[in-house]
Amino acid sequence: MKTCLITGGFGFIGSNFIRFVLEEKKDITVINVDKITYAANPKNLPDDHGNYKFYKTDIADKLELSKVFDENNIDYVINFAAESHVDRSIMDPSVFIKTNVAGTLNLLELSLKRSVKRFLQISTDEVYGSLGLTGKFSEKTPLSPRSPYSASKAAADMLVMSFFHTYGMPVLISRCSNNYGQYQFPEKLIPLVIINALNNKDIPLYGDGKNIRDWIYVLDHVKGIYSILEHGKAGEVYNIGGAAEMENEGIIKYILNKLNKPFSLIKYVKDRPGHDRRYAMDFSKIAGELGFLPDYDMEKGLELTINWYLNNENWWREILSGDYKEYYKTMYDYR
Ligand code: NAD
Ligand code: TYD
Repeated sequence: MKTCLITGGFGFIGSNFIRFVLEEKKDITVINVDKITYAANPKNLPDDHGNYKFYKTDIADKLELSKVFDENNIDYVINFAAESHVDRSIMDPSVFIKTNVAGTLNLLELSLKRSVKRFLQISTDEVYGSLGLTGKFSEKTPLSPRSPYSASKAAADMLVMSFFHTYGMPVLISRCSNNYGQYQFPEKLIPLVIINALNNKDIPLYGDGKNIRDWIYVLDHVKGIYSILEHGKAGEVYNIGGAAEMENEGIIKYILNKLNKPFSLIKYVKDRPGHDRRYAMDFSKIAGELGFLPDYDMEKGLELTINWYLNNENWWREILSGDYKEYYKTMYDYR
């Protein structure tokens, strides 16, 4: 039996990862550490049981975090915990530094002290910056973050690597493109579009709508993360991508068609400041070394995602009735 400390396990990707481990990997005990921010939903996961335990702990609080390490014999650490939304980072960057940078440092220090066997940092393609119409990000692309969010993630990546070079700690970094799928908080593009469309509400499209992201279905990301944890080489970075580049406008129109809703719902609004134009991933390294390839194309992934939101209305209605209302007003009224 191995024990894996997973931070941010009540968030979108963390909860999908934990569900995968609990269902598929019976020789792993999961310790979930989550502060429970606005983005967390404890209902995303089952209650504590034999090989699953939850701690309500802030990774930026080193003393509290050290108690989790004291009480458990931790083999692996996977750090999903983060403030993750670019627009929020533009409004208020400080918490991004606290959680994404200072929190990561706490985890690194405690993991080093306890000699954990693997430390996997969940990072993002956004640390590479923005592409023009051609080219792709590889692991060798210099870091050039352009939003407070991506700057905080890049800072964390550099700290993680410094623990490899300075202390010989067995760290790994995954950098993935834009995820979508079940349990994603509706502030992000795809769930926002599905939910607004279902409510016949305007869909805010930033700028000219031609920004491009590479999209990956969350379960493909989960699979990639597990393969890095199992077989990745310490001290290495692995890009993960979905091989599915799409313009924002194209995605929105695709979803509206699927839901039989009119394009007139689309409202072109003021652009996001510093809006990255294009992301595209060269993930030949993880494909060649670890045999990773995405299983879901965008058609299949979006079908599963749209159906999940159609079948789990209670999940998102509860979010819409809370603080999200205030967030939405602050974020979109001025645009
Ligand atoms: P999310 O916002 O849905 O969830 C984040 C989780 O972290 C929440 O449960 C939250 O409560 C928890 N958390 C936040 N601050 C914390 C703190 N100080 N201490 C403990 N827990 C805290 O995020 P997500 O979309 O699931 O992203 C997970 C990770 O994957 C992040 O590190 C993000 O940078 C990275 N990532 C995300 C994407 C994407 O498209 N969503 C793509 C690539 C990488
Ligand atoms: P988002 O889901 O916030 O992910 P990220 O900024 O991390 O890539 O946004 C994805 C794309 O969609 C990005 O180009 C911004 C755009 N977008 C809109 O046009 N309207 C919106 O309301 C949101 C949330 C995003």
